[in-house]
Amino acid sequence: MLIKNKGINHLTEAQVTDESIYHQRRDVIKKMGFIGAGGLLASSNAANANPFSFFSKEEKPLFETKPLDFKAAVLDEQKRTPEAKVISHNNFYEFGTKKSDPVENAQHFQVKPWQLKIHGEVNKPFTLNYDDLYKQFALEERIYRLRCVEAWSMVIPWLGFSLAKLIKQADPTSDAKYVAFETLHDKEQMPGQRSRFGGINYPYVEGLRIDEAMNPLSFLAVGLYGKTLPPQNGAPIRLVVPWKYGFKSIKSIVSIKLVKHQPPTSWNQLAPQEYGFYANVNPDVSHPRWSQASERRITSGGLFDRNRITTLPFNGYGKDVAHLYKGMNLKKYF
Ligand code: MTE
Repeated sequence: MLIKNKGINHLTEAQVTDESIYHQRRDVIKKMGFIGAGGLLASSNAANANPFSFFSKEEKPLFETKPLDFKAAVLDEQKRTPEAKVISHNNFYEFGTKKSDPVENAQHFQVKPWQLKIHGEVNKPFTLNYDDLYKQFALEERIYRLRCVEAWSMVIPWLGFSLAKLIKQADPTSDAKYVAFETLHDKEQMPGQRSRFGGINYPYVEGLRIDEAMNPLSFLAVGLYGKTLPPQNGAPIRLVVPWKYGFKSIKSIVSIKLVKHQPPTSWNQLAPQEYGFYANVNPDVSHPRWSQASERRITSGGLFDRNRITTLPFNGYGKDVAHLYKGMNLKKYF
């Protein structure tokens, strides 16, 4: 049961994990190098290492996570979705339309070399290479609910950094009103882009209004469960916007462009009457073919896996984001 909504930012690990498991995990995490305080990479050695190579022979801390200053809602019935489910039940149409396709078809996906361009209406455009994705910004762990428009949801511990940090570094001009995101377009590697699975006009594109993008909750994930993102979850870098339906959280991003006008978005182009630009989680606005009033929370399996819970406005993050939509008719701008 939702106990209290006090300025939800993200969930702490303790709030979603049984206490004993929580402490066991903290020990493991310490061994892996998440020392839970501070922020920047500790040393140049650490900075040169792959932060996710947990099989380091020296067993030295490789990097630190930086806890945010937040007051989280206490959602004490919430358990993290087991890693095995997070990485095997996916939507990534570039690798097929069935939930099991991405894990099967994406394993040979090459993420090195990678280039992520930050450009458009900015004074200081820049490009991040593969290694920069893990080193340029201090990494944080954030536990967020992910609510898919298909009415299932998960609770996932992500690793990454806030989108705002990246945008600030590019120094946006006053004409930067929206942010347009683009997934890699590579027909050789992504079979879905050859056959247009699902009817999407590739590359997959998404967008946010600039104030949405600058909200502290908007996150660029480079890892989950303490490891680099598996390809099926959007390696090497993907967006996570927890108050919006999952399709806004675009995977395997190669371009972040600040633009003057609202950019086109893939699902909206495909079926504008079903998928809006905003796509804020809203139990009061049904999808034309199903209700959004409740969701199936994917948990540990068995009977619990059929957990049906009430969907919260803005996926429970209203305290942090509802002000962005003050005065807007959310039924019209769905
Ligand atoms: N990004 C790209 N490029 N292609 C996709 O098909 N699917 C979206 C989103 N990002 C998708 C994408 C949808 S519908 C959802 S629900 C989430 O990714 C799923 O993320 P997950 O597989 O990590 O749970």
